Amino acid sequence: MDWAWAHPKLVARGVAAGSGWKLLNAHRLSPSSADPVLSATPSAPVSTPVFNTTRSQEIFAAAQHLMPGGVSSPVRAFRSVGGHPIVFDRVSGAYAWDVDGNRYIDYVGSWGPAICGHAHPDVIAALHQALEKGTSFGAPCELENQLATMVIEAVPSVEMVRFVNSGTEACMSVLRLMRAFTGREKLIKFEGCYHGHADMFLVKAGSGVATLGLPDSPGVPRSVTANTLTAPYNCLESVKELFAANPGEIAGVIVEPVVGNAGFIPPEPGFLEGLRELTREHGALLVFDEVMTGFRISYGGAQAKFGVTPDLTTMGKVIGGGLPVGAYGGRADIMAMVAPAGPMYQAGTLSGNPLAMTAGIKTLELLKQPGTYERLEAITRRLSDGIQEAAMNAGVPITGSHISAMFGFFLCPGPVRNFEDAKATDSQRFSRLHRAMLERGVYLAPSSYEAGFTSLAHSDADIDDTLMAFREALMAIA
Ligand SMILES: Cc1ncc(COP(=O)(O)O)c(C=O)c1O
Repeated sequence: MDWAWAHPKLVARGVAAGSGWKLLNAHRLSPSSADPVLSATPSAPVSTPVFNTTRSQEIFAAAQHLMPGGVSSPVRAFRSVGGHPIVFDRVSGAYAWDVDGNRYIDYVGSWGPAICGHAHPDVIAALHQALEKGTSFGAPCELENQLATMVIEAVPSVEMVRFVNSGTEACMSVLRLMRAFTGREKLIKFEGCYHGHADMFLVKAGSGVATLGLPDSPGVPRSVTANTLTAPYNCLESVKELFAANPGEIAGVIVEPVVGNAGFIPPEPGFLEGLRELTREHGALLVFDEVMTGFRISYGGAQAKFGVTPDLTTMGKVIGGGLPVGAYGGRADIMAMVAPAGPMYQAGTLSGNPLAMTAGIKTLELLKQPGTYERLEAITRRLSDGIQEAAMNAGVPITGSHISAMFGFFLCPGPVRNFEDAKATDSQRFSRLHRAMLERGVYLAPSSYEAGFTSLAHSDADIDDTLMAFREALMAIA
């Protein structure tokens, strides 16, 4: 593809058509000592991998003029690890190929949905069939019943479900529902947890907000976040204090039951149970944000794994099998508040569309097969243990862990119990590690504050290759 066009608006801004334009802008992408992020020390590989990303750089240079920061979602821009983002061309199984023809073993998995591997043939075949019937109905379809039934059967807290189009939408809707049901306005969330980008959650948020080190976002009215109270993750005492200081005012607590947006941080024994007790005691609702953990930590999500049942649950990612989807669900008496059954308004043009439902149903069918989660646990354990062993052998401080198909590590001695602890990670060193892994054909999330994801498509040989790359890369950055 060449850029043989130039829209008048781009011409007016001095952007010429054709490849000359690419050259004009190429300098913007050269690492410069003026840019502390881009000038992160390059790795000194043990072997000398061939790694050409010219085409990625050209496309990303062009994107700078078309989309803010050149991306549709901030972390993709690689700002925190420096260097240039890799522009993907296609994905299949455990792999992604970039536009320069490099292949990567992928541990991002489209940020979570690709738990069966990218473009699983069964999902693609089902989508082909569904496509023949149309892309969106805007009317009830039986596929919604099918996916709803599967979700209700699997997730302990869910008696009824509403489909939406993203995790952000699921979380903002569930907050309205919490408030509608309790008649209270305040919310407790945890530092470093991310619940999408709706105003009331952009307080000490994880994911891209943490990655970019942003303060709470401009444009969010103080009046909106005044009702958002925060506590450190894994700290029940702080939650108790917030309840005591705001009697009868707190609608509920929302938590990532296993944190994936401040890096990977598991709950300590008793933490989720304690939240359950405290919320009950104070007449507040408990919400598990399982957008990331749903159908990943186990088929029934983190709530099934830990045996703690919240009142409401948000989901996304896996249940859309790679198509845009989100969902919130929970106790039937609470869900009965949602329009048109009840007065709490929430709607969506594309919600429950047949393509997302089809991909979700097929993905859950694949996950339901015997041995799936044992397999995910086994490969992820081998990967996580191997990364830590490689780091220790290289003399690089590390702490990390995994649960099922989710893993993570921090480049610091640990322990990491919450976001404050996570900030001790050596981000500069992580940037060099990230680059060194890319050079060796392994694609990790471009941030110290994101979890990693494995899939059923990752073979033992892929894990071997990945660990070999880690051993070399860690030696190179030690
Ligand atoms: C736990 C959690 N909640 C909510 C969201 C927002 O989901 P989406 O990006 O689909 O809007 C995410 C996204 O990563 C997430 O990890």
